[in-house]
Amino acid sequence: MTQEIYLTGITTTGTPHIGNYVGAIRPGVDASKDPRKKNYYFLADYHALAKCGDPDNISQSTLEIAAAWLALGMDVDNAVFYRQSDIPEIPELTWILTSMTAKGLMNRAHSYKAAVQANVEGGNNDPDKGITMALYSYPILMAADILMFDATKVPVGRDQKQHVEMARDIAQRFNHHFGDVLVVPEAVIDDDMAVLSGLDGRKMSKSYNNTIPMFAPEKQLRKLIMKIKTNSLEPGEPKQVEGSTLYDIYKAFATPEETAEIEKLYVEGIAWGAMKQKLFEHINDHLGPARDEYERLIADPAVVEAELLKGAARAREVAAPKLDKIRNAIGIRKLR
Ligand code: TRP
Repeated sequence: MTQEIYLTGITTTGTPHIGNYVGAIRPGVDASKDPRKKNYYFLADYHALAKCGDPDNISQSTLEIAAAWLALGMDVDNAVFYRQSDIPEIPELTWILTSMTAKGLMNRAHSYKAAVQANVEGGNNDPDKGITMALYSYPILMAADILMFDATKVPVGRDQKQHVEMARDIAQRFNHHFGDVLVVPEAVIDDDMAVLSGLDGRKMSKSYNNTIPMFAPEKQLRKLIMKIKTNSLEPGEPKQVEGSTLYDIYKAFATPEETAEIEKLYVEGIAWGAMKQKLFEHINDHLGPARDEYERLIADPAVVEAELLKGAARAREVAAPKLDKIRNAIGIRKLR
């Protein structure tokens, strides 16, 4: 059997939070250390352009996300870790794929449809108001990310599943016309992946502004945890773990034994204030050592930059010959 190739990207907007950590970063760092796995991880900064027009946000986010992965011990010798915009072959492939992707396929993208619906519901005359071609073609750039490296498995959150399916459609159509050149990828969705709730109890997400930054300084971390919404049960009253954001977050950072211990305290009626203090100490112990390394990297971006460039060189060793093959297949060739 041929070796599976894993590839996943993370869009560089905003500060990484503990929801990103539990959902994508922690499993990614673990997988990066597995010598049996071929892994590609990259910072999708061209994708960030489709979502964010603030240059400082994009560049700061790129630094923070890269520093976070490195501080947590991503194995950059085993995995290939790079920044999308350092690989010029990716936008080239994007254009090639754009010329053979049906417009109708893009019309069906959930992210585009949601933007149109928001316009219609907002009473706008123009359903496409404010929608850029980058938002519209977002799945094609994502297909290029994936197909560039012959990825077979693409670990993503549920919201990205359709995009991976579109990459499959695009690859199949390409192969149908030009021969077997592209590898047809598959989405990998972890059904028991913890989706963390945020401060207000809704899903933790930068768009809800309810996040706990992964490497918030100790004081801020404590302050944020103290803000997490609870119900109004008094100390001593038994409490339910179901629907408790404090419990869910604790569990995402705990062993089964530690979780069982907390369940016992809930039954015994632990005060919310005491539970918050426990959660703070637990997360602080867990992420504290990596936070020191993170702060060191943020203060010395040249170290991060050098890692990314090393990764880009390795990625291009794969991307450049692949692009040659693709160009050749479609008739963009040297004349001879
Ligand atoms: N669109 C993805 C997100 O917002 C990030 C991403 C870009 C990605 N390119 C990718 C994920 C390729 C997997 C594979 O989460």
